Amino acid sequence: MFLVTGATGGLGRRVVRLIREREQSVRAFVRFTSRYSELENRGAEIFIGDLRREKDIEKACKGIQYIISSHGSNETSGSAQELDYRANIDLIDAAKKEGVKHFVFISVLGCDRGYEDAPVFKAKRQVEKYLQASGLNYTILRPSGLASNLLPLAERFRETGIYLSIGDLKNRSSVVSTDDLAKIAVDSVTVAAAKNQIFAVGGPEILSREEIPRIFGRIFKREPIIINIPLFVLDGVRAVLGLLNPELQKSLGTFRTLLANEFFCTPEEIERLETIFDIKMESLEKFLIRYLGA
Ligand SMILES: NC(=O)c1ccc[n+]([C@@H]2O[C@H](COP(=O)([O-])OP(=O)(O)OC[C@H]3O[C@@H](n4cnc5c(N)ncnc54)[C@H](OP(=O)(O)O)[C@@H]3O)[C@@H](O)[C@H]2O)c1
Repeated sequence: MFLVTGATGGLGRRVVRLIREREQSVRAFVRFTSRYSELENRGAEIFIGDLRREKDIEKACKGIQYIISSHGSNETSGSAQELDYRANIDLIDAAKKEGVKHFVFISVLGCDRGYEDAPVFKAKRQVEKYLQASGLNYTILRPSGLASNLLPLAERFRETGIYLSIGDLKNRSSVVSTDDLAKIAVDSVTVAAAKNQIFAVGGPEILSREEIPRIFGRIFKREPIIINIPLFVLDGVRAVLGLLNPELQKSLGTFRTLLANEFFCTPEEIERLETIFDIKMESLEKFLIRYLGA
């Protein structure tokens, strides 16, 4: 049986769907307040808990063979230290106790670049090292931006034609289809060449940020109005917020790091991924058309 954390998230729910489509058993770790009925309807076993509680993690791991750690911190969930770091360390410890056969960890592209001001990146890198030293079989996936994150922006664009972007529009990324990432995560436990490996995971094309509203424009057949906010404006807001809420200021460091840097995969990295996982990575445009049906 699989255990999937973050099972109600953009990635996690796709991972659960795929496991159920393959008629395998899966336990979905969800919060009491989450919307998890879809997962239940698909036949997932629901485990209600909080990843900030070690006891919940230990209980959730009972009888599990494979773990896919796909949760992450956000504004309502807790800090990077609690969720991206501590919860994963607890999961790895519980996996060892339980004799789990394979642990898949969703990390982030660029976590090994040593960004000082990015708590999530730091936490992910520390977890990677802990997992590598744990003796468990593992696969570490380092995705760039997830295409599912762009769906609400695309919906807003459909209504208004407006695309809001912060930072340099020339910065590049290789946005990955969240469905492709889910497939790679699930296949990691069976593909022999994925054992004890780290993979950069991205879409097939390297896109500058200004290309994203152009894609929206093509799909919805309207001219994009791009509003570009310079990074120093975010820095100003962050400095003021820091006086009121130092924790929020810290967590905005990850957001700033994402905006200020480039996160894309090389063609060699994509080729390696496609060969090992026998997959043709989907473009952002195809992903959006599939979901928004324009
Ligand atoms: N999004 C990106 O562009 C991106 C890029 C690179 C890497 N990643 C990584 O990819 C993974 C998936 O990202 P995503 O965008 O799919 O995440 P997401 O949509 O933000 O989902 C986060 C999940 O974590 C769960 N969660 C949060 N706090 C919890 C708690 N205290 N106890 C139990 N569950 C909790 C959330 O549950 P609720 O539904 O209850 O909130 C949700 O299911 C994460 O590890 C993320 O760091 C994401």
